[in-house]
Amino acid sequence: MASREQFSSRTGFIMAAAGSAIGLGNIWGFPTNTASNGGAAFVLVYFLMAFCLAYPALMAELIIGRHSRSNIMTALRFIAPNKSSRILGTGIGLYGVLIASLILSFYGIVAGWMMTYLAESVTNMAGWTEASAWLTGFSFERNMISMGIFMLLTMAIISSGIEGGIEKWSTRLMPMLLVIMVALIIYVFTQPGAMEGLKVYLLPDISQIKPALIIDAMGQAFFSLSLGVGTMLVYGSYLSEKENLPKLGVAVTLVDTGIAFIAGLLIIPAIYVAQHNGTTIVTDDGSLIAGPDLIFQILPSLFNSMGDIGVFVAFAFFALMTIASLTSSISMLEVPVSLAVEETPANRRQATLIIGGVIFCFSTIILLSFETLFEFVINLTTVYSQPILGVMLCIFTGWIWHRDNLLKEIKAGHPEIEGTWFWKIWPGYVKFFCPILILLAFFQSIAS
Ligand code: PHE
Repeated sequence: MASREQFSSRTGFIMAAAGSAIGLGNIWGFPTNTASNGGAAFVLVYFLMAFCLAYPALMAELIIGRHSRSNIMTALRFIAPNKSSRILGTGIGLYGVLIASLILSFYGIVAGWMMTYLAESVTNMAGWTEASAWLTGFSFERNMISMGIFMLLTMAIISSGIEGGIEKWSTRLMPMLLVIMVALIIYVFTQPGAMEGLKVYLLPDISQIKPALIIDAMGQAFFSLSLGVGTMLVYGSYLSEKENLPKLGVAVTLVDTGIAFIAGLLIIPAIYVAQHNGTTIVTDDGSLIAGPDLIFQILPSLFNSMGDIGVFVAFAFFALMTIASLTSSISMLEVPVSLAVEETPANRRQATLIIGGVIFCFSTIILLSFETLFEFVINLTTVYSQPILGVMLCIFTGWIWHRDNLLKEIKAGHPEIEGTWFWKIWPGYVKFFCPILILLAFFQSIAS
């Protein structure tokens, strides 16, 4: 492992890690959750969860990753002090790799839809009605082709490695995303109805804070920071010794929650602008519209109402969704690819091709029995597996890893850390609080 690659700069790492974190989870999941959990109260709890629970877990992954300089499985085996904990580490590592791959298999389908709507904005401009109908119709062919193209893009970036692939593309794509989003917000704010949405988004009604909201906020924070499946662990493994990990973790958490907040600033007012234009925005049970309808009905109807400029706005928005998905999907694919490169004779290119092919097959199987498998895989991975894996990683860090080694690793790149709050609070925090809180959320979510 002598020639192991690294991120070339701190900014490169932050862009890549933020690129992984920022995705459909922020721009779709967060506004959707906010809409279905009563608005600003959810936003408040989400921020609390992100910093009090997800940030410490993120630090566990970054620290293990940088210390062991390897993929999740090899890393856990490396820090395990004895045979039984090594077996446990292997099991958790393989489970994480499987879940990362399964997340990519449904994520690729949804990202494919974003690409078809992107293409549709072009066929719409050109007046090709038949092509537009095909692109927005829900056919197996459309779904498979768009997912396949998205997977090929993901594979192309991953086979180029860390600096030339992940870092280069994240650094290019992330700022673009912010620019597109801010432009859209400025437009939406000039529209009638937007201010009503802004109030729902910003003025919390504390009575809305119920157990279900807390669980949703926690799940959202976990998914959004790409935790549990070894993504942040493997990105941490490409970080230089010199970097100050607690600070980098704060930067990534701030950027991720910041973008989620900005996405909400766009989407929630957009819902009310759509209402102003005659679209029904509440479902039969009285809750605000959410899920696929939010992105694929409310927003296109908003774009249509804009007149000629609408197709351009649609183009910008779906380009943004595709970009955000791509910088996340590459981080998912990196999890199994890094394992294969480090543990088998395969090189990066071969590993990417084979693993990408297998995940493409997973996705195709999901598409073939969409009704039964799609929701099932999402729940299996994000609701059930990510929190369990998060607990396991906290337990590994807090209970199994030798404390001296752990502290030595945090100290690298940050020698004066002993005087800080982080040093005093974090080790005990991941040992006790994080596992207990995550488990609590997990059992609550099963019970409901
Ligand atoms: N954080 C990504 C998002 O918000 C999803 C993701 C989950 C990425 C797990 C990597 C690993 O869309």
